[in-house]
Amino acid sequence: ANAFKLADHPKLPKGKTIALIVLDGWGEANPDPYNCIHTAETPTMDSFKKTAPEKWRLIKAHGTAVGLPSEDDMGNSEVGHNALGAGRIYAQGAKLVDLALESGKIYDGEGFKYIKQSFDKGTLHLIGLLSDGGVHSRLDQVQLLLKGAAERGAKRIRLHILTDGRDVIDGTSVGFVETIENDLAKLREKGVDAKIASGGGRMYVTMDRYENDWSVVKRGWDAQVLGEAPHKFKSAVEAVKKLRETPKANDQYLPPFVIVDDSGKAVGPIVDGDAVVTVNFRADRMTMLAKALEYEDFDKFDRVRVPKINYAGMLQYDGELKLPSHYLVSPPEIERTSGEYLVHNGVKTFACSETVKFGHVTFFWNGNRSGYFNPEMEEYIEIPSDVGITFNVQPKMKALEIAEKARDAILSGKFHQVRVNLPNGDMVGHTGDVEATVVSCKAADEAVKIMIDAIAQVGGIFVVTADHGNAEDMVKRDKSGKPMLDKNGNVQILTSHTLQPVPIAIGGPGLAPGVRFRSDVPTGGLANVAATVINLHGFEAPSDYETTLIEVVDK
Ligand code: 3PG
Ligand code: CO
Repeated sequence: ANAFKLADHPKLPKGKTIALIVLDGWGEANPDPYNCIHTAETPTMDSFKKTAPEKWRLIKAHGTAVGLPSEDDMGNSEVGHNALGAGRIYAQGAKLVDLALESGKIYDGEGFKYIKQSFDKGTLHLIGLLSDGGVHSRLDQVQLLLKGAAERGAKRIRLHILTDGRDVIDGTSVGFVETIENDLAKLREKGVDAKIASGGGRMYVTMDRYENDWSVVKRGWDAQVLGEAPHKFKSAVEAVKKLRETPKANDQYLPPFVIVDDSGKAVGPIVDGDAVVTVNFRADRMTMLAKALEYEDFDKFDRVRVPKINYAGMLQYDGELKLPSHYLVSPPEIERTSGEYLVHNGVKTFACSETVKFGHVTFFWNGNRSGYFNPEMEEYIEIPSDVGITFNVQPKMKALEIAEKARDAILSGKFHQVRVNLPNGDMVGHTGDVEATVVSCKAADEAVKIMIDAIAQVGGIFVVTADHGNAEDMVKRDKSGKPMLDKNGNVQILTSHTLQPVPIAIGGPGLAPGVRFRSDVPTGGLANVAATVINLHGFEAPSDYETTLIEVVDK
């Protein structure tokens, strides 16, 4: 425990209650009709900048500032919350897989050797998100892995694709499927029996998270493992095109389908002796499938048939659960996160969000680690999310409920840090529904107000920030910033995150006079927030953390 002892901050007191509020998908951008945050009434968020500009600033939330390969990579919640919680920048999954593929080390690792055992007699199955979004997976990595596995002896390969439309523009799935079909055709020319076997939209098939809705994973299981789905096609390109034709259909929610041969038989169910790789590097939306594939004891749905397979994840998705036990690339070793320091220094923490983002303020925040560091020092509350709807239907989501739980935690006097994630801007932004996103932003702002008022009552401090942009820009733009049109002349709605910076505001009656943002950290990003918050708890941050954003001037 001693290694975690933090030095006292020379100027800042201990024992204040801090509300640490993360608005998911809340970036800063110029006023614009597609800036839903600007359109929405957000008096509380606006007031920070207006009334205390020395305690408001922008920080970076994308690209290398959060450990992603390049400045063209938009931020996302995994890397964002990792940086916020860990206070340092780690090369993230996307980057680690790139390096392993580039150097060829991926093929020397334990994980690849393990799946390779099945290449002689079995089929290699790749399951994952097929797009170049770079949030959960990347098409070019799947292409390289396909080629690499074939060169190393995989004779029969089946792909189980999940269409995106969430980290990329809706409708792009067709092009991605065509690209991968082209690769598979080349492999077939070389004598490898390589085909797409099944598919479905990521939000309806397989990629649920935080155990929100197991039926999503079951639909995937039925198609991928059992070879059963309501829709059967001879080719995946045809499948995606046809399934998109039904009204309101989109890439995110395509129904599950299987590819069948001339006799109507599914071409690639998963059977005994096969190898399976889940090709997503990001954890949250692969963990549930990993459990279904790996756990002997499993009661979340009836798997009907449980094939004996050699299964590996692209990464290990959960370090605490050691899930999956085999993986192709080692995940970033995120250790000594701010949460772990705080429990060793007497700081009691409360964390809360609704299901769809609950793991973000706990699991991602703590460096992809599930559970408590010390249950006596922490309490995590999950508010059940609505299930089976798209969030444009309920854009307020559980913002009020989260705020009320946080308010009660603040007023209880039991906690020094009350941390929440407000999902609205992000989850509704991902639906591409501009009007609903405006409503969602207002709801998030009202939730912030509730928590700020509670902080005022207890003489505490607030820190309000975001993990990445989303709701502040809902349209795809050309280089000059003009909205881009599709071939029918409609604007191309942007369902994904953005490259925008995010705001951070500090304040509250408990903030020592003279605390303000330093002017000498102009390139500050999400990773600088942890040291800042540790200071506000009255401690010096660990020396290897990214520097604090604040200074204390004599008043
Ligand atoms: C998702 O998983 O919903 C999106 O791909 C990314 O959104 P998040 O990073 O905000 O969770
Ligand atoms: Co998002």
